[in-house]
Amino acid sequence: MTQRHLLKLLDLTGEEINQILDTADQMKYSQKHGIVHDYLRGKTLAMIFEKNSTRTRVSFEVGMYQLGGHALFLSGKESQIGRGEPVEDTARVLSRYCDGIMIRTFAQSEVEELAKHATIPVVNGLTDFAHPCQVLADLMTVRERMSRLEGLKLAFIGDGNNMANSLIVGGLKCGMDVSVACPEGYDPDSEVLDFAHAVTGPKFELVRTPAQAVAGADVVITDVWASMGQEEEKAVRQRAFAGYCVDAQLLEMAKPGCMVQHCLPAHRGEEISAEVFEQHADEIFEEAENRLHAQKAVLYLLMKD
Ligand code: CP
Ligand code: NVA
Repeated sequence: MTQRHLLKLLDLTGEEINQILDTADQMKYSQKHGIVHDYLRGKTLAMIFEKNSTRTRVSFEVGMYQLGGHALFLSGKESQIGRGEPVEDTARVLSRYCDGIMIRTFAQSEVEELAKHATIPVVNGLTDFAHPCQVLADLMTVRERMSRLEGLKLAFIGDGNNMANSLIVGGLKCGMDVSVACPEGYDPDSEVLDFAHAVTGPKFELVRTPAQAVAGADVVITDVWASMGQEEEKAVRQRAFAGYCVDAQLLEMAKPGCMVQHCLPAHRGEEISAEVFEQHADEIFEEAENRLHAQKAVLYLLMKD
């Protein structure tokens, strides 16, 4: 991988994404078979969280441990970050103690700024714009179960949020056709749409009806209607997204045997029905597990000597 950081999938080539996925498969194999893979012995990852997390925090911390290293948790509120210390100073300080930084925050520009001033790799653990680690895990899970990505149709139903942005980029870069259904006013980021419309080969469409997006899909993916930081918009969004629930009736339009993915946490009865969630729980929790393996691949590729 030629990249020094993982800030967004737009920065990676399809080959680099595939390299991460291949490495992730190896990490999973090693972990399952008890093969020692302590490639990051003695190294430390600082994890900055300015938003809540269960999966990201645990999978990064456990991942660093399994790689022979150490991870430390820095809460935005309790560190000087929450008291306004400039991100460029945080970057320069952490670069002198640690070997990598994972950050979950609001603005993508904060992550880009951190990377600009850090002399160690920076990994985006979710911003309002992107969730690259999650989408690497999603792609890994689809490839594991369907043996390929190229030529498959991925449908995303819901808000044009960080997940939609990263799925569009990741899916298209891996040769998948991507169809996104969002209500008007909730489109993916314009930079992502510009990228998607310029892609040659795989097909991309942005539509207003979930049934259109799901038609013939191999993988159907959804996410919450109100992301972290949008709690006050919850009621407005529930009205805007009426009809965007991934339920059994909608899935009848997809290819028989289609997969369902959800990054979690899920709101049953909103973006996904309880029935569909439970029918596809095995795939959804495999996706959650694969965060661990995919992130270990990223950490290894960015932080190894
Ligand atoms: N999917 C995901 O990123 O989960 P957390 O918010 O629990 O980290
Ligand atoms: N779109 C969601 C993803 C959570 C993992 C959020 O940003 O809250």
